[in-house]
Amino acid sequence: MCGIVGYTGDKQAADILMEGLGKLEYRGYDSAGIAVFSGDGIRVEKAKGRLSNLEERLKKNGKPVGTVGIGHTRWATHGEPSDANSHPHSHGRVTLVHNGIIENYLSLKQSMESMGNTFSSETDTEVVAHLIDYYYSGDPADAIIRAVGRVEGSYALGVMFEDIPDKLFAVRKDSPLIVGVGEGENFIASDVPAILSHTRRYYLIDQQELAVLTKERVTLYDFSGNDITAEKELMTADWDVEAAEKGGYPHFMLKEIHEQPQTLERAIQPHFVNGLGGILKEEIPDTSGIRRLVIVACGSAMNAGLLGKCAIERLARVPVDVCIASEFRYANPILGEGDVVVVISQSGETADSLAALRLAKGKGIPVYAIVNVVGSSIAREADHTVYIWAGPEIAVATTKAFTSQVAVLYTLALRLALDRGTVSAERAEEIAKEMKRLPELVAKTLTDEKIALYQRLASLNRGKHDFFIIGRGQDYAVGCEGSMKIKEVSYLHCESYAAGELKHGTISLITEGVPCLAIATDRSLVEKTVSNIKEVKARGGQVVLVCPEGMAQGQDFYDYAIELPQTEDLLMPIVAIVPIQTYAYYTAVYRGCDVDKPRNLAKSVTVE
Ligand code: G6P
Repeated sequence: MCGIVGYTGDKQAADILMEGLGKLEYRGYDSAGIAVFSGDGIRVEKAKGRLSNLEERLKKNGKPVGTVGIGHTRWATHGEPSDANSHPHSHGRVTLVHNGIIENYLSLKQSMESMGNTFSSETDTEVVAHLIDYYYSGDPADAIIRAVGRVEGSYALGVMFEDIPDKLFAVRKDSPLIVGVGEGENFIASDVPAILSHTRRYYLIDQQELAVLTKERVTLYDFSGNDITAEKELMTADWDVEAAEKGGYPHFMLKEIHEQPQTLERAIQPHFVNGLGGILKEEIPDTSGIRRLVIVACGSAMNAGLLGKCAIERLARVPVDVCIASEFRYANPILGEGDVVVVISQSGETADSLAALRLAKGKGIPVYAIVNVVGSSIAREADHTVYIWAGPEIAVATTKAFTSQVAVLYTLALRLALDRGTVSAERAEEIAKEMKRLPELVAKTLTDEKIALYQRLASLNRGKHDFFIIGRGQDYAVGCEGSMKIKEVSYLHCESYAAGELKHGTISLITEGVPCLAIATDRSLVEKTVSNIKEVKARGGQVVLVCPEGMAQGQDFYDYAIELPQTEDLLMPIVAIVPIQTYAYYTAVYRGCDVDKPRNLAKSVTVE
């Protein structure tokens, strides 16, 4: 979703802004622009499409010379991707960039038009530039606060005033924004990677706070005009600069796939340092009142929730519902005593998940959050937050955050099971031992030999149009995530089906050569799944079997096999998804897709 950067210092702002926008490309965008105080005014340059188009434009028109500016990557919501709809937007003395949605923009626009204002874009954003300019009579903070007071919706704004060439202003509501603090230079940004090569120190801007930046200092005000800078915590990003770079891999997605042995170690290991009695004790001191968990999330985080449900119900016998956040928030959900809502989110900023969290809290329901980005809105607003410590995830298609979310859900399942006595201490020890082996097992799925196999299989998907994944129980949930990966990055139409359900309609689509990934890792269900695989094979489907080592030998119901190192059945989904991620990655590469920046997608969806 839209990315914002801002710079004030001694360096050429255009260079810093372009670099920062490059670091935010992962958020997903379809146009970009910058505005720089240059000579006696603000010069704006913008272009539809990739950042390279904007680079070209800067080359053609000459880069704006100046040391203060703002930049933006836009993910279209109101108005198609075009030069005119790209940010920054200007009106009168005001130029700004915006992430979020102004829900009442139409009525605001009409009222501005009735005063004679004319608009040059179809965006909701432009109305904010008009409003701020309307209220501006020498006091910029006052104008911004009055203007946002009339706005309904979400926003992170970076604002410049033509007559204040040494300052940047920033404000936000429900869309992420940080202020980076450097030496003789300061920054605004949607996310840490944009500033990481310049500074690690940053403030998280809260609702109803206004940041004013000069190159020498950052001052934070509340909306009553009080200077609150001294009260705010100056955060330090502990991410390596390299963690947000590709490190020799052709794509972030491939790099992040290969990081999984390490990220799983970081997600799992800390929960076991104080023995079984210590699992999640710090984050969630007491689970005794829990009668039901309601997992709420979007996209892959929701798929992680499906796997969490399998593990928690199996081990702890606690009922779990899994809900899509955008549905949950408008479904008037039935929540009551003994319910706990678990929000899962990599970014911690997904608008629907955040709204679901607030809805649950508003009903007095305790909320746990499983989050990657430290200090994000969901992490801060939940009652209890468990971090997955996966480090920056840049590729739009999540890989390492997904497996770490699932790993944390497994620790939660074990903890609940221990608290309820549904597993013996001995059995819990066995499971814990296998959980700690997961990094090693995942590494075994990423050897050169295995990668060559995934490449070979992916090359078969070049000319295909449809793709099916089948499995039962937890394997069906793995399929849901696998299908998401294939769709997201390779644009191949893919559906995940509960293996036993295929024959109730969808099997009509299985014809000669249609690829079908059959996942069979849960030994208690293998026989049943095999019957369904045979149904596919009998109709000419091209079957790639994903199964534990040894299971495929001597069988003839598949065409190709991806064999996995064996562990507890319960934990096999983590081992199984990694080859499928890699297979999806190479499928996308062979189909010529832009793997890290898939069309129409955004990494962090901060609008409804
Ligand atoms: C977007 C991303 C998905 C992600 C989902 C939820 O749609 O493209 O990969 O799973 O948002 O994101 P979150 O940050 O809440 O996990």
